[in-house]
Amino acid sequence: MITGKFINGALKVEKLNVIKITKTIKTPFYIYSKKNIEQNYKNFFRTFKSVNPLICFSVKANSNLGVLKILKRLGCGADVVSGGELLKALKSGINPNKIVFSGVGKSDEEIDLAIKKRILLINVESESEANLINKISKRNKIITRIGIRLNPDISAATHRKISTGKADDKFGLTRKKLISFCDKIYKLKNLKLEAISVHIGSQILSDKPFKRILKVLEDVMADTNIFFKYVDLGGGFGIPYNSKEKKINIRNYSYLVKKFQKKFNCQIIFEPGRAIVGNTGMLISKIQYLKEGKNKIFVILDAGMNDFMRPALYDANHQIVPLIKKNSISKKNIEFVGPICESTCKFIKYKNYPKIYENDFVAILDVGAYGSTLSSNYNTRPLPTEIIVEKNKFKVVRKRQSIAELIKN
Ligand code: LLP
Repeated sequence: MITGKFINGALKVEKLNVIKITKTIKTPFYIYSKKNIEQNYKNFFRTFKSVNPLICFSVKANSNLGVLKILKRLGCGADVVSGGELLKALKSGINPNKIVFSGVGKSDEEIDLAIKKRILLINVESESEANLINKISKRNKIITRIGIRLNPDISAATHRKISTGKADDKFGLTRKKLISFCDKIYKLKNLKLEAISVHIGSQILSDKPFKRILKVLEDVMADTNIFFKYVDLGGGFGIPYNSKEKKINIRNYSYLVKKFQKKFNCQIIFEPGRAIVGNTGMLISKIQYLKEGKNKIFVILDAGMNDFMRPALYDANHQIVPLIKKNSISKKNIEFVGPICESTCKFIKYKNYPKIYENDFVAILDVGAYGSTLSSNYNTRPLPTEIIVEKNKFKVVRKRQSIAELIKN
């Protein structure tokens, strides 16, 4: 599923003709569909309805306040990995009691903030971190609720750069360390161990690794003498980015989660990011130049790897479509590239693409997750505008960064 649909040859998001936005907003800009975000959240919740999960949206996937506010209104919580993300989640109105904080390198200041805001859980990733949280909690005279993250040593069968659950990955505690940690947690008087968490990677398209996690968790939990009030099963649910990739079917997994929940009498938490916003966003860009190379035509866009990093970083495949579809097809090889001075600033290649011209507009699809959040000022270029579409209207939810701000230091 993509965010938009072609109606009479023009790309529409909800009821808005996207080309209309280009009349007033300079490219490149991100657009998100409010309706799609809501639908994805509701679908995810419905799949796991029988366990009434707490869904903590992974803010790193999309931290735009407008997006967070849409999710907050649906009752969503947040999974954050920095003080900045925590403050954004709170600013969007998300209840602190629905916020979990993960990450291997939380700083003193970030821990202090999370403790003072009394968030639901700090998911601890090492013993040293637990000691520090205990110390800062004591100083604040607060008992802090924590979770402990397990490294289950499970392969997620995904891109190697986004796998987090193998023994070689820096995340979580090994099974052995986790069990010995549970045995001495009572010594840390300002901590209350209430959760166990796992997250083995992102863009996972098979349900098998998820099922395996439940098995490992069952074993580990049986080996500790702790009652875990919460079990945080993380995120990682993939989405299809092209016609060859199949949508992950998590129905079966949801039945197993139900069984698991019954057995341990726990509150289930999920931390999806991509599954909620991935297919709800597009990056709109203008064709700046067409340039004939030896073997292909370079379609040089005004959006680059600074605006959208996934293809350069993970060789990710994001389809690109013209905003106005022409019937005639060009049989030449073309490659969409960006303006950044790096050979890796390129997006996708096609044979047989609709005829396109300089100054035409195109949409890079399925960029709602890890699109804007991974963007940078590389080559001293401003961060792009972000827009939310609702029915036939649109609203700018982040203005393009000004050049004045950009050249300050
Ligand atoms: N929970 C934790 C602890 C995480 O580290 C992540 C993602 C998530 C939840 C959400 O995962 P999701 O449901 O979105 O797969 N930049 C990469 C993805 C990195 C994911 C990092 N952690 C990409 O563009 O593919």
